[in-house]
Amino acid sequence: MSNQEKLADGKSGSYGLCLLDEDELYGIGSIETDAELKQRRHSGIKALFAEAQQDREAFWSAQAQCLDWFEPWNKVLQWDPPYAKWFLGGKLNACYNCLDRHMHTEIWKKNALVWEGEEGLERSLTYEELYKEVNKFSNVLKESGISKGDKVAIYLPMVPETVIAMLSCARVGAVHTVVFAGFSADALKDRILDADAKLLVTADGGWRKGRVIALKQTADMALESCPCIQKTIVVRRLNCEVVMQYGRDEWYDSLMEDAQEECPCEEMDAEDELYILYTSGTTGKPKGIVHTTGGYMVSVTATMRWVFDLQPCDIYWCTADVGWVTGHSYVVYGPLSNGVSQLIYEGAADFPQRDRFWQLIQKYRVTILYTAPTAIRMFMKWGDNWPQGCDLSSLRLLGSVGEPINPEAWMWYYTHIGCQRCPIVDTWWQTETGSIMIAPLAGFTALKPGSATQPLPGIDAVIMDEEGRQQSSGYLAITSPWPSMLRGIHKDSERYQQTYWKKWEGRYYFTGDGAKQDEDGDFWLSGRVDDVMNISGHRLGTMEVESALVDHQGVAEAAVIATAHAIKGQAIAAFVSLKEHTPFHADLEDELKQHVVKKIGAIARPERVIFISDLPKTRSGKIIRRLLRDIAEGRVTGDVTTLSDPSVMENIKKQYQED
Ligand code: PRX
Repeated sequence: MSNQEKLADGKSGSYGLCLLDEDELYGIGSIETDAELKQRRHSGIKALFAEAQQDREAFWSAQAQCLDWFEPWNKVLQWDPPYAKWFLGGKLNACYNCLDRHMHTEIWKKNALVWEGEEGLERSLTYEELYKEVNKFSNVLKESGISKGDKVAIYLPMVPETVIAMLSCARVGAVHTVVFAGFSADALKDRILDADAKLLVTADGGWRKGRVIALKQTADMALESCPCIQKTIVVRRLNCEVVMQYGRDEWYDSLMEDAQEECPCEEMDAEDELYILYTSGTTGKPKGIVHTTGGYMVSVTATMRWVFDLQPCDIYWCTADVGWVTGHSYVVYGPLSNGVSQLIYEGAADFPQRDRFWQLIQKYRVTILYTAPTAIRMFMKWGDNWPQGCDLSSLRLLGSVGEPINPEAWMWYYTHIGCQRCPIVDTWWQTETGSIMIAPLAGFTALKPGSATQPLPGIDAVIMDEEGRQQSSGYLAITSPWPSMLRGIHKDSERYQQTYWKKWEGRYYFTGDGAKQDEDGDFWLSGRVDDVMNISGHRLGTMEVESALVDHQGVAEAAVIATAHAIKGQAIAAFVSLKEHTPFHADLEDELKQHVVKKIGAIARPERVIFISDLPKTRSGKIIRRLLRDIAEGRVTGDVTTLSDPSVMENIKKQYQED
């Protein structure tokens, strides 16, 4: 039945009131007008802000009721700066909240995951089916020697088993660390070792742009130097030949065949760790960001509902990979704890051709799309005709995440994807914040292309100068603890304090982002102010890429900067000086790019490698990247008085222009 017919039939009114047949979970009826949306949402959101303002702890305590707890908490917050504990004494399980609690509701029979592989394979799992799979895999984990507090690494493509593995870890109280499947063997190894993971879940491979990603092979290389891994479970995605190491590797499907059906949830303390997720910082070594169970689940569950204005019949699609925090919070925990039906897609946006996303939206009647500015800019470049050829009328809300969205991209998204009727929520947050912090709430907040607008209820964000004075332009800071804040950096409390809290002596959280606030109090994020780059919405430290470059036998020194890029937002330019006896040859640039891909992964491939004889340094030997940025962006070079050898700059400029 078409939406028009449903309307005539009286089965669905505006999307806020749609009534669907039990077995009919796609399609949303008519789209609300702005006025209807405002009328429906305005007073509820206003009340949320008022409650949060009146008593922040009481507000979060009320929000925590959105979860099911085995034991209630006896204290909402314990704040010993810079360490916070939330919902002290409370007992719960994240997996229980994503699955078990839906058991006696209408959610049980609806689709939790609708999956499509890049080559077109389809699979869907209702909440009930997902529950069964998770119970079985939880038993597989237990049989494999995993118990509460153990670390499990997950290195999988975007397949339902990734979600199953994460939820199963949560169910048995194991701490998962998901490693993006685009990361190299070295990057996987570093993360496994730092987390001290006992078990790895991987796959024989995955699809990307029509090519096979040989995950098991990469995992095997990593595992050569990971003695902590006792067992590997391999998901059969491609059914291709892989080498299985006797005694260590087992197939997921054969273990599942023998697994018991029921696995009770482990009772977790609110402050027990849920996961570690590695992200780049200003040093060469990625940070293991630690999130715990109670506060994290409260924040992601509440923000998912507020920001995406969830309706029972929504088909939600977040295009992020589960390897990043967006995938953790807004593909796994947030949507499932809210009983949402969602689409997950394994592959690339241009496979087999450039309308794949729009074809998926049309086919599955997606109502909410959450994607990244870098993807939007790519779609803009590909041309309007791709979305125009598809029916996008099911969409009612659009989201953006990962980097500042430039107003041109916002307008294109609004016009060509949202057909000028879907609000866009530009959501600012980080791996460390765990959940969305600044975003408009459609129907309440006036939208401004390019601005993430206002902090959400219960979040205190301000802009500060170096001295901790509030300004309209400067550094973005969070002034009060929030439930899903990181609890630390795995095995490195010193780095936690230094990175986030030292700037203002432990009083405020330093985000690492620059921002401005306009006369309406709306926030405009301008990007990182530290040595962290944002390449296609992915965080990478300059030092990480530099370490990969100097690892090459011919490289003496390297300095990496981010330059503006029309699609990726930022791209990597690497200035490299070679060792004295390294012969220069025409393929060296490609060789170095490939070396970085091998050390980190394809996302870190430098756009340009510029060979120079000396790097600009202070007398104490510190590289001055600011001067390299000036050159790359064609600016007059700033203060050079601190350079040990000012003539270096002229040479670099010459080499940059010649390159
Ligand atoms: O610089 C900000 C940018 O992405 C950084 C966080 O990266 P990550 O931890 O990988 O998490 C990305 C997904 C939440 C931030 O410090 N960023 C993220 N969202 C936005 C943004 N910058 C501007 N506007 C946004 N909406």
